[in-house]
Amino acid sequence: MKYLVTGAAGFIGSHLTRALLHGESSVIGVDNFTDYYERKLKEANIKDLRDYSNFTLLDMDVAELSERELEGVGVVFHQAAQAGVRKSWGKSFDAYTHNNILATQKLLEVCRSIPLERFVYASSSSVYGEVAELPVSEKAYPQPVSPYGVSKLAGEHLGNLYYYNYDVPVVSLRYFTVYGPGQRPDMAFNIFIRSLLEDRPLYVFGNGEQTRDFTYIDDAVTANLAAADVTGVEGKIFNVGGGSQVTVNQIIAILEEITERKARVEFQPPQKGDPRHTFADTSSARHLLGFVPRVDLRYGLQRQVASLK
Ligand SMILES: NC(=O)c1ccc[n+]([C@@H]2O[C@H](COP(=O)([O-])OP(=O)(O)OC[C@H]3O[C@@H](n4cnc5c(N)ncnc54)[C@H](O)[C@@H]3O)[C@@H](O)[C@H]2O)c1
Repeated sequence: MKYLVTGAAGFIGSHLTRALLHGESSVIGVDNFTDYYERKLKEANIKDLRDYSNFTLLDMDVAELSERELEGVGVVFHQAAQAGVRKSWGKSFDAYTHNNILATQKLLEVCRSIPLERFVYASSSSVYGEVAELPVSEKAYPQPVSPYGVSKLAGEHLGNLYYYNYDVPVVSLRYFTVYGPGQRPDMAFNIFIRSLLEDRPLYVFGNGEQTRDFTYIDDAVTANLAAADVTGVEGKIFNVGGGSQVTVNQIIAILEEITERKARVEFQPPQKGDPRHTFADTSSARHLLGFVPRVDLRYGLQRQVASLK
């Protein structure tokens, strides 16, 4: 099987590519190293991948892909995006419309004429916004509270359009905060761990009692592989969560134990665009994809701490 992974040099895309390369498959990675965070971190994500003869990296914009690059591809994993909730306000929304909406539409348009087996779209829990009932199921009405969430929801809707009108076999995965080695440098765990290891203050937005459902990277990869393999799930949307709802304060306490350091927490005003709570109902992914998150939060955090040390 030949796979195409967009955003292959990013956090999730690089782990997914590594998992695919361990099989017999060949992988075309696409990444244009956007300046959302440092290129050297993305280069580090894919350093070992470049040694695989069955891996090719195209340094180009997803919006520029054509049938030529997709020739022979059976499955597309569309991970590329401008990530980050807080930076999506104001002028920088241009990058979100280009990378998350326009690039997705252009890629789907190319895929109309390719005999694809599957197109897996990396969506986000951010499409939900504030929800009344937790855990949230895919049936809840999506009402994002950030421009980023709006852009990810638009990508998801585009996927549905191309499935219903042109049979592009799209499956969307709504990831709930993914963590683990290689996590983006702007994400809370990465910042908290580095601050603890370097004895700097930890800045927490709000009172730290907001909760998140955290998904270990290997579980997110497993969900992608299942979404590509399982038959009869085209056009469906699945929550991908880690299985527990934890407060930010609890996370800090676990990190203090793992690092054997005391955190100097400084509370800051809550940020616009951050929902108060997230918690995924993953029963649909369990029933239809056979997806069950396996990695326990403490073990996952130990792995991330070890990688940052
Ligand atoms: N990390 C999470 O917790 C999380 C949660 C929900 C959803 N997601 C989604 O998962 C996907 C991967 O997230 P991540 O955390 O690995 O982010 P990341 O920023 O580490 O990876 C995204 C990669 O896409 C590349 N990229 C962006 N626009 C591009 C374009 N137009 N052409 C080519 N390459 C482009 C970037 O250079 C980057 O390497 C994204 O779609 C994101 O919206 C992530």
